[in-house]
Order: sequence, then structure tokens, then C-alpha cells
Amino acid sequence: MSDTVLPDWSKLDSAAALAGNPLAGRDLLRLLDLSPQELHLVLSTAVAQKAAWAQGVVTAPYAGKAVGIILEKPSMRTRVSFEVAASRLGAHAVVMSDSNSAFSRGETVKDTTQVLERFVDTIIIRTFAQSKLEEVAHWARIPVINALTDSFHPCQGLADLLTIAEHKGDLSTLKLAYVGDGNNMAHTYLEGGALTGMHIHIATPPGFEPDETIVAECRAAAAQTGALLEVDHDFAAALANADVVITDTWTSMGSEAEHDERLAAFAGYQIDAAAMAQAAAGAIFMHCLPAHRGEEVTDEVMDAPFSAIYDEAENRLHAQKALVSLVLAQ
Ligand code: CP
Repeated sequence: MSDTVLPDWSKLDSAAALAGNPLAGRDLLRLLDLSPQELHLVLSTAVAQKAAWAQGVVTAPYAGKAVGIILEKPSMRTRVSFEVAASRLGAHAVVMSDSNSAFSRGETVKDTTQVLERFVDTIIIRTFAQSKLEEVAHWARIPVINALTDSFHPCQGLADLLTIAEHKGDLSTLKLAYVGDGNNMAHTYLEGGALTGMHIHIATPPGFEPDETIVAECRAAAAQTGALLEVDHDFAAALANADVVITDTWTSMGSEAEHDERLAAFAGYQIDAAAMAQAAAGAIFMHCLPAHRGEEVTDEVMDAPFSAIYDEAENRLHAQKALVSLVLAQ
């Protein structure tokens, strides 16, 4: 993109190269907080940093900075990838999880947030309601990053777009099929399509559709890229000619009590070898993990040569390191 400035990470030894970037000091509460150009900046920064790290370039532009990571739901990938990203940037990560979560003692969101911002330079939070994340962002005078809510998972979205670009090239020419629950990942792929021009086809069982308001917001945003965003119940139509096939758990965090009911409702939406055979030649499979092997996806697909699941997980680190690099800049 012509109006973004990508730092030369092979020469970077201070935060100076990142100063003044359009995301400095900004929040990321959902992907639609970004313009297409800003999304490109995050992804291209991740590509540059990943290549530099692979070549042995080690810099610590944010030595002395701290990031606060609040986890009100379980996490492995998000916690580890943010902690390691902070470490690679020279920053210290403070993790507050479960019973030690910053919000576990009933203090108001305002008090907690405005104390935390005296200690740390950005707040990364996994919580339930998007409205709580928005309240944190309202009170914070430092960047706030969504590490998953019931509505969105933008950091996973950044990693997934990076992974798709690495495997399949120009996002605007691709079709992504997401089959399964119309959950926070479905919303995030719709946002990613709207920003990149990628054709997104979401197929869910009846009763598990994405949020109508979010779909409408994504379709409005898609006007800037021309992305086709389809949402229906048609498993076969979603898979037809798909370059990328994605599913997610049928029982998201907080829905465990509905597990048996959901298994029945999602019958016929499993990604197995026969489903992958309906996609385009050379299609890849992705899953944000953790997967429930034998439910939404078979072992055969998870472990196939076309499965990009571990590249996708690794890219959490690279995408989030780029994001933190950009928002922490002065
Ligand atoms: N994909 C993802 O967010 O993984 P965790 O729940 O392990 O963080």
C-alpha cells in the first residue's frame, strides 16, 4: 500500500523506525478498527519482522516497556505468543489470569484500568462481552488489544490472514470457506474479508448464524474492497472452489453445557477428507485451535499435508509482535 511506511527491521535498533506510524497509540478491539491500508501495515510488518528474526536479527526496541495481559478465559496460544512477542521486543509481560485476573475482586473497570495504565504501556485482554473490552478502552489512555471476546478474535484474524497470504498469495483473489458455528471467528473472517477483498462464505447450521448486526457492518465495510460476503447454511456451496477451508470448535468457551445438543445440531458440518475434496485444488485447511478432533474436523484433515494449523498458530506470535510494535510506538 502506498500510504503506509514499513520500517526496515534489518536496521532497526530503536523504536525510532516505528515512530509516527498510523497505529501508534491505537486500540485494536476488532479488525474493522483498521483500514485496509492499516491492516496491510500490520501484516507487512509481521512479514518483515518474521524474516529478520529468521535471519538472526535481534532487537529490543521496547526495553523498559511493559504489557499487561488480562485473561478472564483459559488460553495457551494467546498467552504464550503475547509473552514471547513482548520478550522479543524487549518489553516485560505481566500476566493476570483466572483468580488473579485484574477484574477478579469486583473493583470497577474504571479503577482497575486507570491503575493498570500507571504500570503498563498497553493492555491486552481476553474477556467475555465486547462491551467490557470497550469499557476498558474507554477508560485507558494506553492502547488496548482484544485477545478474544465472545464477539471477535482479531489477533487470531491477523495471524490467519498472514498464514493465508504466505500459503496462497494475494488475499483479494481468494475464497475462504468457514463452516461451523457462527461465532467470534466467523465474525472475524467476515471482517478480514471486508478489509482485504477476499470472498468469504460462512455456512452454519440453522440457529447458529453469525450476529446479523456484525454481518451488516462487514457488508458495509466490504464496499471499500468489493469483497463478497456470503452467509447461509449451504455446506457444499461454501466448500466449492474454496482456496482456504476453516472450521472452529462447535462448543466455544462458555457453551460447554450445550455440548451434546451442539454435536447433534452440527452433524453434517464436519470437515473430513471428502469435504476437503470439494474445495479447490491446492486448498489449505486451517483451525485456530484448540480443535476437538473427531468433532468439527477429522484427524486425517488435521494431519494432512494441506493442513496449515501449526503455521497458523506460529503466526500468532509474528502478527501480535507486529501489532504491539506498531501500537506501542510514540
Ligand atoms: N486460538 C487461541 O486463541 O488459542 P488459545 O485459546 O489457546 O489462546
